[in-house]
Amino acid sequence: MSEETRRQERTPTLQMVLFGAITSAIGIAWGLAIDWFPVSASTQAKPIDDLWDLLIILSVPVFMLVTTIVLFSVYKFRMRPGEENLDGPPIHGNTKLEVIWTAIPAIVLVALCSWTWVVLTDIEEAQANEMRINVTGQQFAWTYEYPKAGGKPIRSSTLYLPLDRPVRFSVKAIDVLHDFWVPAFRMKVDAVPGITTRYRVTPNKLGTYPVVCAELCGLGHSVMRSTARVVSVADFDAWLAKQTAPAGASKSDVAGGQNPRAQDEGAAEKIDAKKLFAEGNGTATACGSCHTLADAGTSSQTGPELDKTLKGKDEAYIRSAILEPGKELAEGFQDIMPKDYGDTLSQEEVDALVEYLGKVAG
Ligand code: CUA
Repeated sequence: MSEETRRQERTPTLQMVLFGAITSAIGIAWGLAIDWFPVSASTQAKPIDDLWDLLIILSVPVFMLVTTIVLFSVYKFRMRPGEENLDGPPIHGNTKLEVIWTAIPAIVLVALCSWTWVVLTDIEEAQANEMRINVTGQQFAWTYEYPKAGGKPIRSSTLYLPLDRPVRFSVKAIDVLHDFWVPAFRMKVDAVPGITTRYRVTPNKLGTYPVVCAELCGLGHSVMRSTARVVSVADFDAWLAKQTAPAGASKSDVAGGQNPRAQDEGAAEKIDAKKLFAEGNGTATACGSCHTLADAGTSSQTGPELDKTLKGKDEAYIRSAILEPGKELAEGFQDIMPKDYGDTLSQEEVDALVEYLGKVAG
């Protein structure tokens, strides 16, 4: 090989390396400048975002290198007039090159996986004072349960969390696969029927954040949303105390510990319909998980807003809307309301809900 050919072969390699380096630098700068994520509201968010940045820094050059070589080869070795019937030169390949391009990506991948594992293990370490919350996904609503020592758990369709307190979520699904995701917290896990999955989060920013279902779960998947509210410890305790007390009860009632639902579920007049609406009964998904109703303090937009759609409707309509949903759909809404309220609610509970809704919304 003459000096001349050697120089000719070196030049394109140099050009490609130079071009690849420049585009990589631009690509990395661009990738890091893009504001990919929503506001971060947990201590886990920063390490996850840093991990993302590391991925950008390592993967952009690989992408640029491959594209540069492909584009360069397409241009440099294109067919010229008169070459139509020519075959390419018979070459064996380059063992050294193949070893290099297999080994380097392998090393990069193993290093990335190891580092990710270290970060994920670290941010999910058990904390001393962590609060436990059970999350249940079912078509198409989330229910949060706060276990209470010695009493019935508190259920809510809104995820209330105290600021700076570590939380361990235990996630379950009743029907099909769902995925419990609060983008602002960055953590995410599948809800799988039959098993309990978990993750830990420490909310560190006051605010209201969307909870999203991130696993295709049926017709109502896109509207399977709820709200996480990170509040001060004092506000959280006040909210918790309010949930423990029967709705509308005075202070003295609370002191007496008379929870009407716990006592006798048989009598319609004793069922707390507002609480039933907002929290469900443990089997039936709370109406409030999907419906906005001012009186019950619920705000989900999954289903029609009852303050509006029930206006002027009689009790017969409301009863049929609970027991036979889909018969008469509100405009713009799909037929996704559970059809089994006749089974999951007792007759008395249905009566209580109908009466309550007729009163506050009808
Ligand atoms: Cu539940 Cu998608």
